[in-house]
Amino acid sequence: MKSMSGLFVTFEGIDGCGKTTQIEMLSSDLKDAGIPYILIREPGGTKIGEKIRTILLDKANSCMHSRTELLLYEAARAQIVEEKILPALKEGNVVICDRFFDSTVAYQGFARGLGKDPVDHLNQWSTGGLSPDITFLLDLDEQTAYRRRHGRSDEEDRLEAEGLAFMRKVREGYLKLSENEPRIRVISANDAPELIYKQIRKAVWEVLEK
Ligand SMILES: Nc1ncnc2c1ncn2[C@@H]1O[C@H](COP(=O)(O)OP(=O)(O)OP(=O)(O)O)[C@@H](O)[C@H]1O
Ligand SMILES: [Mg+2]
Repeated sequence: MKSMSGLFVTFEGIDGCGKTTQIEMLSSDLKDAGIPYILIREPGGTKIGEKIRTILLDKANSCMHSRTELLLYEAARAQIVEEKILPALKEGNVVICDRFFDSTVAYQGFARGLGKDPVDHLNQWSTGGLSPDITFLLDLDEQTAYRRRHGRSDEEDRLEAEGLAFMRKVREGYLKLSENEPRIRVISANDAPELIYKQIRKAVWEVLEK
C-alpha cells in the first residue's frame, strides 16, 4: 500500500551513520519551502512508544529475549502508525521517520538471526500494510560510524554496548534487504554531510514535484 496523499520518507542505517544529521537538513529545507511535515522517531514518537523505548534501551533488561524485543518494536510501531503516521499522511504531510520497519529486518531479522520472513510478516501486520514511499539507507562501515559516535558523552545504551561485530551484521542485513526493494536508495554515508544531503534533496524534490 502506498502512503496516499502525503509522502512517507524513512531513514535507515547503522548507529552513528548520520541519519539524524540528514533528517535535520531535510526538515529545515521543507520548513523553508513551506511544505508541511512531521518528524517521527521509532520506537518512540507516541506516549506509549516512548515507554516501550525506555524498556528496550534499559541496560537492566539485558535478559530480554530477542523475540520479546521484536514484539516490543512492533507494538510501538502499530501505535505510531495509527496515532501519528496515517493521520499525517491523510492530511497531505511529508512524514519523516528516523528508522522504520527496515531497522527491524536488519537488526532483529538478520543481525539477531530471527529471520527475514517472520519479521516481514510482523511488519506487515503491525503497519496494516503501510510502506514508506522512499527509504534512504545511509551506508557506512561500522568502524567509521563508531568513531563518529565516539565523541559523545552519553553512556552507551544496551544495544550500542554490543559492539562492532553486531553492527557489521546489521549493515550486511540492510544491504541484502536493499537488493530486492526499489524504494530503498542506498547512499554512501562516507562523504561530507552536504554532499550526502544533495542526493537526498534531489530524490525528495523529484517526488514532490511530480
Ligand atoms: N557525513 C558526515 N561526516 C562526518 N561526520 C558526520 C557526518 N554525518 C554525521 N556526522 C557526525 O556523526 C555523529 C553521528 O551522526 P548522527 O547522530 O546524525 O547519526 P545517527 O545515524 O542519527 O546515529 P544514531 O543511530 O546513534 O541515532 C554526529 O556527531 C554527527 O555530527
Ligand atoms: Mg540519530
